Amino acid sequence: MYIGLESISMDVPGQGLDLRRLARARGVDFAKYQAGIGQEFMAVPAPDEDVVTLAANAAERALRDVDRAAVRTVIFATESGVDQSKAAAIYVHRLLDLPANCRTVEMKQACCSSTSALQFALATVAMDPAHKVLVLASDVARYGLGSAGEPTQGAGAVAMVVSARPRILRLDPVVGYHTRDVMDFWRPNYRDEALVDGKYSLKVYMETLEKAWGDYRAQGGHPFGDFDHFCYHMPFTRMALKAHLTLARLENASHTAAELQAQVEPSLAYNRINGNAYTASLYLGLVALLDNPGLDLEERRVGFFSYGSGCMGAFFGGTVLPGYRRALASADHRRLLQDRRSLEFGEYEAYYTHRVPEDGRDYATPRVTRGAHRFAGVSQHQRLYALSRASAVLAADAGVVCAAAPLGS
Ligand code: COA
Repeated sequence: MYIGLESISMDVPGQGLDLRRLARARGVDFAKYQAGIGQEFMAVPAPDEDVVTLAANAAERALRDVDRAAVRTVIFATESGVDQSKAAAIYVHRLLDLPANCRTVEMKQACCSSTSALQFALATVAMDPAHKVLVLASDVARYGLGSAGEPTQGAGAVAMVVSARPRILRLDPVVGYHTRDVMDFWRPNYRDEALVDGKYSLKVYMETLEKAWGDYRAQGGHPFGDFDHFCYHMPFTRMALKAHLTLARLENASHTAAELQAQVEPSLAYNRINGNAYTASLYLGLVALLDNPGLDLEERRVGFFSYGSGCMGAFFGGTVLPGYRRALASADHRRLLQDRRSLEFGEYEAYYTHRVPEDGRDYATPRVTRGAHRFAGVSQHQRLYALSRASAVLAADAGVVCAAAPLGS
């Protein structure tokens, strides 16, 4: 029995900031962002977009031709949780009208809980092959206005259906792990921006890659030369290239520099123009690789390195399945990225500093998003989610009832 991805899709905010504008505002040479860190544009969520709406939109696409009745687990991986108690998975479960006989849970370990979610899904399906698991990775990466990490900000979500009927990627059971208690990046409960020792985090990332890879090999994983492509966690895209060169050097790989670059470059395409999305970052890399129209990936082996600050790393592999293209939503993904609005610098600052009131007052969010789901506001301390106006009209035509009434206009 093979277990792996039956479907995968993504969502990104409907607007963002061209880093040329950020460079001008911060008095930085744009070449530093473009060549030095490998970023050109960053996603900026509108007030009515959050990790729940991004994940729900991605999941709508991922479940388009999947038997929803067989989805018995939803795992939501995030480090931008919207509640300290209630799992974001439950909001998505309702928005997508998933079966009531379903397990829903939220997981956290910086940027790599999505990988643990995937592996828990694998184990679940191994126990019950009829069970489908919806894995959601959704995050908003915030570093602070004027901070060193500012040009690496972004947001996005990836939804993956894991089942015993994979159409896209077969996942190998062998995984290499490494955990160590370090403070390279963290976010105390009283902050909505991460605290990060950027240079130290990159050093720890590399050390964790070496250790997780070592464990992967010790557990019986494939040698470096068996892999055709690699996807790395990307706090910024240059990091993936640096990591790959480090791993190749460690393994004394005989590949040329151009070959090594070609093994990673296709996975950078979306992150370069969307920014970091923490738990979703590695998997946005996978979506970009799969969507690449110039590559035939059938039967190609892909290596994955997942890193979560604090820190934990995991290395694992998978093989792309014949006919995988038919199960992708590549045209939708390209349209999502192309149709985004480019914000003026002042709009970026306004969106960035916008806050949901924290004093318990009822509140209606401004209507901005063109995505199917929106964060409508707060009433009696409860977050309200609804179909956005355009999709509400479509849903009404189709006889679908909007799950929560939006506040205000
Ligand atoms: N043209 C081309 N490249 C340029 C340049 C220019 N004009 N100016 C600088 N660069 C290069 C630098 O040489 C450097 O490349 P190198 O690392 O290969 O030497 C790169 O751009 C970055 O410059 P640096 O001065 O190191 O940037 P910084 O001090 O502003 O910080 C990060 C960069 C990545 C540390 C910062 O963005 C950060 O902290 N990001 C968040 C990291 C994170 O999320 N970590 C946790 C999860 S892994």
